[in-house]
Amino acid sequence: MTRPSPAGFSQVQPGPGWDALPLPALVLDRQGRVAAMNDAAEVWLNISRNSTLGRPLDGEELATRLRIQPSLSPLIGRVMNSDEALYQPNVCFEIGDRAGGHQDRRASVHAGPAGDVGGAVTILLVPLDEAGLQNQNRAVRTAARSAIGMAEMLAHEIKNPLAGIRGAAQLIGMNASREDREMAEMIVSESKRIVSLLEQVERFGDTSAPNLRAINVHDVLEKVRRSAAVGFARKIGIVAEYDPSLPDALADGDQLTQVCLNLVKNAAEALKDTDHPSIRLRSFYDHTLRLPPDEADPTGRPLPLQIEIEDNGPGLPPAIADQIFEPFVSGRENGTGLGLALVSKIITDHGALIRVDSRPGRTVFRISLPKA
Ligand SMILES: Nc1ncnc2c1ncn2[C@@H]1O[C@H](COP(=O)(O)OP(=O)(O)O)[C@@H](O)[C@H]1O
Ligand SMILES: [Mg+2]
Repeated sequence: MTRPSPAGFSQVQPGPGWDALPLPALVLDRQGRVAAMNDAAEVWLNISRNSTLGRPLDGEELATRLRIQPSLSPLIGRVMNSDEALYQPNVCFEIGDRAGGHQDRRASVHAGPAGDVGGAVTILLVPLDEAGLQNQNRAVRTAARSAIGMAEMLAHEIKNPLAGIRGAAQLIGMNASREDREMAEMIVSESKRIVSLLEQVERFGDTSAPNLRAINVHDVLEKVRRSAAVGFARKIGIVAEYDPSLPDALADGDQLTQVCLNLVKNAAEALKDTDHPSIRLRSFYDHTLRLPPDEADPTGRPLPLQIEIEDNGPGLPPAIADQIFEPFVSGRENGTGLGLALVSKIITDHGALIRVDSRPGRTVFRISLPKA
């Protein structure tokens, strides 16, 4: 049985092949209501045409079955007004299931004018599956490597002349008028800032190969929790949820501590304007998780030990969400963008995996490690 369609709504019949399209696709009319959807869209979004046609995709009417973060309205509005095709990466679809729970799925959303149907917009979803996320991770690693290698060389080369500039500015400052002295002091203090940035870059290169041993990840997490609780995260509730039966991991304890500390520090920084800020440290076992297979390991290395660091802050800034593991990408005023690049380097050197899932109110970094 079909429900009555809202007044003034007419369904669209896209051409043949539409239903055979392997990607979820929808057409929205000029009011933003779903005018057509293909089979793949029904399956992927887990909603039927009957309940969807004639209703706005991210409106209240469908909210119990589907929520979209961030809202697609701005994207669709821009397409309608400009007649251009546009794209939004990494959109989260919270999809309801029969049991009343929900599941998060991610896709990049491509939207373009629907040709002959005036003002209508075609939307194509390109799902970001596990494999997609992992490949992204791998591309980032290589990019990060070469960018950091380059930066290390530069850091080394810049430090010497910078020391000269700083010394010269100090000398000038000694015999200068008050105004000129202020300028000279500025040169000195800004040079100092550059030096400390360069030193962070150099520290990168110094991270030696991990000394892999059997370690208890809870010892690491507890050390991090205690130091955060008396230091930078004093005002934040930190909850620990450990699986006590978790076996030892094969990892470098000091490096893993550094990784977790960086993640908890980022969480604390993200929480500074949040009411009731809280960080959750979680550990659990998931035997299905593996590294993506490659020539060296065609079955993919098992990574069954999971550590999650979760916060209830605002989530990753959308503009940089895809690049946070790259060096020098920061969403903070005085950030260096090196914290997560270091995290990613260490995790890669461990042959382990790190991923992030973020939306406003819930950001989770997950580290997957091998068993000792
Ligand atoms: N838990 C988090 N919540 C929200 N944003 C985060 C979180 N962790 C990292 N980020 C974002 O990722 C950016 C990069 O982090 P990082 O590499 O540690 O560099 P930095 O902390 O120096 O900015 C941060 O500036 C911030 O915008
Ligand atoms: Mg940081």
